[in-house]
Amino acid sequence: MNSFDGITEFIKKTPKTELHLHIEGSLEPELMFKLSKRNKVEIPFRSVEEIKSAYNFTNLDSFLKIYYAGSNVLINEEDFFDLTWEYILRCKENNIVHTEIFFDPQSHLVRGISFDKIINGIDKALIKAEKELKITSKIIMCFLRHLDEDSCFDVLKQACNYKDKIIGVGLDSSEKGNPPKKFKSLFEKAIQEGFITVAHAGEEGPPEYIWDSLNLLKVKRIDHGVQCLKDEKLINKLKQDQIPLTVCPLSNIKLCVFNKLENHNLKKMLDKGLRVMVNSDDPAYFGGYLNKNLIDTSKALNLELNDVKILIENSFKSSFLDEKTKNEWLNKIN
Ligand code: HPA
Ligand code: ZN
Repeated sequence: MNSFDGITEFIKKTPKTELHLHIEGSLEPELMFKLSKRNKVEIPFRSVEEIKSAYNFTNLDSFLKIYYAGSNVLINEEDFFDLTWEYILRCKENNIVHTEIFFDPQSHLVRGISFDKIINGIDKALIKAEKELKITSKIIMCFLRHLDEDSCFDVLKQACNYKDKIIGVGLDSSEKGNPPKKFKSLFEKAIQEGFITVAHAGEEGPPEYIWDSLNLLKVKRIDHGVQCLKDEKLINKLKQDQIPLTVCPLSNIKLCVFNKLENHNLKKMLDKGLRVMVNSDDPAYFGGYLNKNLIDTSKALNLELNDVKILIENSFKSSFLDEKTKNEWLNKIN
């Protein structure tokens, strides 16, 4: 067995966590097609193949257009259940033992779907996952940053009825031109209500957005964060405080943040001692679940077995699991 086969085996057999996964981004073309028929919702594609061939993106916004259009087929509680359960089966395949998933209620509420149906469909699948497959999870609700703060306050109010299910809030959608400072009072209110905060920052946007997510939104993790290497002071801050950066390599290539995987800066971030880990983001759209992200990235960047081990450990350390459970998993890996 050569060393790369050894790394692939290690990735497959090691228990893992995933911390950056949009549940709507795990909607596979086959399920999209099935739900469009079941719910009689038109989609601009005639076949699964046509859907797949539409997945060529030039940047984040070009992806989001298709991603929100795809979400239109999600109508009933059972659709959100099926969507989540399919992702859970992928977790099983990928040996993911704990996952912290994002959902985007505003993209469904605007279509007249009730908050209740969305959250209950997701939650019921996650309860089944824990019972039948021993896969644990947390739910994080994302605000769509292209919308105004008032709309976000409305959805925060609804989320307050589901504090037993939703652990935290995040910020996603179109980053450039929608800076963290737009949501300062929203996040203050969310924290007052007891939610943990995270935010997408430095995916396409500047290092300043990472600073502002830390200072104004008081986030515990930065989602993506790959633009941080442009700012020495920021690198030092992220290293010193060991702020988790939930990097998504295949996503970054599909959205042209880097031109090819060989040029991704993950290895540089690792070598600087930053708390990075690998995630799949929107795996149905970006061509791979967690293992594929880890395997392809390891190969492209010539990662050592020890690098991969650190990535997987970082993910457990950065999760919102309790300390005891985290340590149990970390001991198992070793
Ligand atoms: N970035 C911003 N918004 C998103 C993403 C992403 O990678 N995926 C789904 N919504
Ligand atoms: Zn994301």
